[in-house]
Amino acid sequence: MDRLRSLKIHDDTLNRTRFCGALLVILIVLLFLSGIFMAFYYSPVPGAAYDSVDFALFNVPFGGIVKGVHHYAWNLLLIVLGIHLFRAFIVGAYKAPRQMVWISGVLVMLFVPLFIITGDLLPWDQKGYWSTQVRLSIISSIPLVGDLLVRLLQGGSLTGVVALTRFYILHILLLPGLLIFLIVVHFHFIDHYGITEPLTHGTDQRVKTSFFPNILNRWLFLFLIVSVILGLIGWYWTAPLGDPADPTDSFYVPRPEWWVLFLNQLVTIFKGNYMIVGSMIIPGGLIGLLFALPVIDRSPGRHPIGRWKLMLAAAVITVAMIGLSIMGYVDHFVGAAY
Ligand code: HEM
Repeated sequence: MDRLRSLKIHDDTLNRTRFCGALLVILIVLLFLSGIFMAFYYSPVPGAAYDSVDFALFNVPFGGIVKGVHHYAWNLLLIVLGIHLFRAFIVGAYKAPRQMVWISGVLVMLFVPLFIITGDLLPWDQKGYWSTQVRLSIISSIPLVGDLLVRLLQGGSLTGVVALTRFYILHILLLPGLLIFLIVVHFHFIDHYGITEPLTHGTDQRVKTSFFPNILNRWLFLFLIVSVILGLIGWYWTAPLGDPADPTDSFYVPRPEWWVLFLNQLVTIFKGNYMIVGSMIIPGGLIGLLFALPVIDRSPGRHPIGRWKLMLAAAVITVAMIGLSIMGYVDHFVGAAY
């Protein structure tokens, strides 16, 4: 206990500029905790998966709240990730010597969609099942390796018991293990290279304070606040669970979720032989740009005005993504016959 009391770390964890990073850690911890609780009731077999989720949602004490925390936490995680990335971009946090902090952060970010894609199939409801079919058909359009990837993912030509088992193992074992590893690597680089100072003060003003109880109390307080808020939201707005999956109902058209509206719209624009442009080339190019940013922008200053060309390019891409999302929203949600 004395050693814990004497442990001192930088006081700036959880301050204004570090808030998003701290919130991300808390949301990931909440996703893991709620996921472990749900796994006690979940059964990864097509004939039983839906009933097990339905039972946990409506009959297990606090089951609805736990599923609500899991559901709303990943939605919030995507928003906070976006803000975290945006802030890092604006303050030039990818610049030397912190290139590896940026690259490991982008890798962490890419893991979240993989969790959502694998998690979506688990409740075995209509939306999850048919959204998975759309994603698998996009994957199969990748030249040379597409069909092989789909076979590897679902263990055959149909989405059945083997597919559900594979998605489940990816969701609760492989992806969490890799994500924890990447987060540790990200924190290692942050610890090694330090954190980018806000643009307003250039000098290092970091002071140290005791981890216990000062820092720990702050983290626990934030953890409690976020848990209560998400729990209340989950209690008031029950997490969605559609009708049980019906693989014979090929008339069912799944509505894309808000975070993929722009991707969905790209796939709609580039149809047929050109589908790969919208499904792989443009999204892959954007991810490539994110990774390459430390190489693309090697200018010495960090101030956005000095990097106006980059800011302009980022603004154009952001406006295009928002525009495509609005178009997707209008197509799928306003007056669409579902
Ligand atoms: C970044 C981390 C994670 C994300 C983004 C995520 C996302 C999802 C999503 C999108 C679903 C589908 C249902 C819904 O929309 O809420 C789901 C279901 C599920 N997740 Fe996760 N998850 C994460 C971590 C975990 C972990 C670590 C576990 C277990 C150790 C887990 C266990 C489960 C289980 C058992 C289900 C199916 C039960 C149900 O839907 O009620 N998840 N997850």
